[in-house]
Amino acid sequence: MKEIINKIDISTKIKNIKLSSCIMNASGALCSTEKELSDLLDSSSGALVTKSCTSDLRNGNPKPRYFEWNVGSINSMGLPNLGIDFYINFLKRKKTNKPVFLSISGFSLKENLYLIKKANLIENISALEINFSCPNILNRKKIFGYDSLYVYKFLKNVFKFNKKPLGIKLPPYFNEIHIKNISSIINRYPVMFVTCVNSIPNGLYINSDTESVVIRPNNGFGGIGGEIIKPFGLANVSKFFSFLRKDIYIIGCGGISSGKDIFDYILCGASAVQIGTQFIKEGISVFDRLKKELKNFLKKKNYFSIKNFFGNLKKF
Ligand SMILES: Cc1cc2nc3c(=O)[nH]c(=O)nc-3n(C[C@H](O)[C@H](O)[C@H](O)COP(=O)(O)O)c2cc1C
Repeated sequence: MKEIINKIDISTKIKNIKLSSCIMNASGALCSTEKELSDLLDSSSGALVTKSCTSDLRNGNPKPRYFEWNVGSINSMGLPNLGIDFYINFLKRKKTNKPVFLSISGFSLKENLYLIKKANLIENISALEINFSCPNILNRKKIFGYDSLYVYKFLKNVFKFNKKPLGIKLPPYFNEIHIKNISSIINRYPVMFVTCVNSIPNGLYINSDTESVVIRPNNGFGGIGGEIIKPFGLANVSKFFSFLRKDIYIIGCGGISSGKDIFDYILCGASAVQIGTQFIKEGISVFDRLKKELKNFLKKKNYFSIKNFFGNLKKF
């Protein structure tokens, strides 16, 4: 029994980046500080994704700015991070075989290009994940992923100099035509992967007892994550899988809290998955548990590798 489980292969590849497990953390979930990043490097996650960084350190929005309930989370963090130099220095110091994805979230096209130039100089970064989907910046109402002209201008410029494997973290889309449009732009450039999805923007969770919002910034409105957003994550992965070039990989994210959830994402066309809210709730042991659950689920289904069912979602 144990032998069969050991033989089940949940390793994956994002083009030529090899991950020993298809399960990694989502950017922003316990990956901001030296301690959090070191814990992730030591964990059984298949890759390390850093907190989205900006040129300079940011304290983010006033607290409370994160709240979770049984099936979801709401946050308006405002991109608190230690600045790109901190993450670069951390990665320079740490020797690791684990693939590292540096998440970048500049406030303008110029800042994003500047950050990417800086990251290009660092050897131990396996790939860049450009966050086009941060919903929680006070006074910046724009989510870049919803502006196809911005996405086009970015891609046109970045590949003039970028040599690093590059992916884009996308917001959730709710219309097929929007996914088609963004895909047709992305398909024209050597983008290596997309990550779908970031938090669902502009949600509101309230406490009926106190008759109040639960987070301070933006009058209580924030990005929604956790179990309740899984159907939207799956829908985005599935649609992008049909519209993107076949050599563009998809990393699935949104509402994953069990091995079965991971199975569902891979069935829809994800090559790897990221865990946000559930990692924050459960801590670093989540990666061991999910790995075990995924392997047990595959065993029950008589699959020996995630390749056996990748992208095979049946339709009526
Ligand atoms: C507290 C918090 C901070 C986040 N910060 C970032 C971030 O810096 N960059 C990013 O791309 N996504 C960020 N996200 C979004 C997550 O990476 C993820 O896309 C989203 O939460 C959906 O996944 P989940 O349902 O597993 O939480 C953050 C989410 C949470 C809850």
